[in-house]
Amino acid sequence: MKKVLIIYAHPTEHKSRVNKHLVGALSDVRNVTVNNLYERYPDFYIDVKYEQGLLLKHDVIIWHHPFYWYSAPSLLKEWFDLVLEHGFAYGREGNALEGKIALNCITTGGSESTYETGGLNRFRVSDFLLPFDQSANLCKMKYLEPFVIHGVHLLSDKEIMEYTTKYRTLIDSLAK
Ligand SMILES: Cc1cc2nc3c(=O)[nH]c(=O)nc-3n(C[C@H](O)[C@H](O)[C@H](O)COP(=O)(O)O)c2cc1C
Repeated sequence: MKKVLIIYAHPTEHKSRVNKHLVGALSDVRNVTVNNLYERYPDFYIDVKYEQGLLLKHDVIIWHHPFYWYSAPSLLKEWFDLVLEHGFAYGREGNALEGKIALNCITTGGSESTYETGGLNRFRVSDFLLPFDQSANLCKMKYLEPFVIHGVHLLSDKEIMEYTTKYRTLIDSLAK
């Protein structure tokens, strides 16, 4: 069974309606590690060696975050800047992540129809996520389609629970 690492970045989890359920439902799953960046690094001082060690121990890496300004909350960007070092994650001798699976799990305020040509947000979510896609590629990882939940402010509690189950099912299938 593969080991799954959720790199979770949510700066205001206490106000979360959706992500806290998605992540909360994974806390007791044996082969899943939830690495809550804002909880671990409230001062933004990331322990690079610890984070690299976590990456080495897992096969599937999920960048899990609310969509903020068409990207990720800033601590996740800091994580990329510091943890994915040359010689570790990329470069001629940087093969630590080779063959691992990577994907984003995101929630958006905007509805699905706003993320298309002619819509308010003009581009598809997968277009905005290209830096993640290419970063994974540079690190010789296999980047999969993101798990996206749109229009989160309008979701009912029942729909949130359905998405929570769907996310858990996806993670189970990735871990096989
Ligand atoms: C600083 C900030 C930036 C945001 N940027 C976007 C955005 O670019 N696109 C979008 O669809 N929603 C955006 N949102 C809405 C969030 O994605 C939404 O509130 C979040 O996914 C809700 O998840 P939660 O219930 O777990 O907190 C933004 C929200 C905040 C606070």
